[in-house]
Amino acid sequence: MKDKRTPEDIRSQEELKADCHIPQHIAIIMDGNGRWAKDKGQPRVRGHHAGVESVRDAVEACAELGVGFLTLYAFSTENWGRPKEEVGALMSLLIHSLRRELKTLNQNNIRLMTIGNREDLPEKVRGELEQTIELTRQNTRMTLVLALSYSGRWDMTQAVRAISEEVLSGKLTVGDISADTISDHLATKGIPDPDLMIRTSGEMRISNFLLWQLAYSELYITDCFWPDFRRPHLYDAIRSYSRRERRFGKVSEQLKPV
Ligand code: FPP
Repeated sequence: MKDKRTPEDIRSQEELKADCHIPQHIAIIMDGNGRWAKDKGQPRVRGHHAGVESVRDAVEACAELGVGFLTLYAFSTENWGRPKEEVGALMSLLIHSLRRELKTLNQNNIRLMTIGNREDLPEKVRGELEQTIELTRQNTRMTLVLALSYSGRWDMTQAVRAISEEVLSGKLTVGDISADTISDHLATKGIPDPDLMIRTSGEMRISNFLLWQLAYSELYITDCFWPDFRRPHLYDAIRSYSRRERRFGKVSEQLKPV
């Protein structure tokens, strides 16, 4: 497999590993594909195609750094409302990307997972996903989580339904319900909350992403459009994250060792 790192990338990577806290879980809102294409006078779909190269770069870069989980917001519940041609193009792109990347995922020891309402997805996409998930199940270096037909509100709604069923069947009492009960019924069960959430294209929104899970995540927003996002942008985000003091509601003095 070809190493796409420049000598500068390799230097940055070594410096980050030595000096920075590497987030255990990075979540990314990949935004700006349409505007990237429009700026070039090209159809929106070209932006999505170009975005696949950024996905590849981010996945490899995170694995190289020792990130445990990378969650990518690839298709939201609301994206079903886009023009039919664009939705179709995104679904085809997903099928082709999964087929093409299976080998690389295995070579890099990366496991694939999805969160979201898989039943909404076309049969062909579901089949391809199920196959890729099964064929990468044993991989241990990093988990790539694709959020597909996902939204934070969908996730919370399905969790409330599942918890209610358990209360109705007597498996749980209302008093048993804690924050952990809720986390354990979300699609991200077993996945630690993101430490760092990156959004490209400069928009200052969460856009119905991991609403519960982002409670204490550090946010990093860059003006860069997703198709232009490469290793150096990711390294900048991690450097910024590493300089932050995460207080989780406490005061600074409580965090320092005495
Ligand atoms: C947001 O840009 C991007 C998406 C809705 C789709 C993201 C999909 C990819 C990067 C390609 C396929 C992904 C995988 C995992 C293989 P936008 O269209 O909202 O851009 P705009 O805000 O400029 O219109």
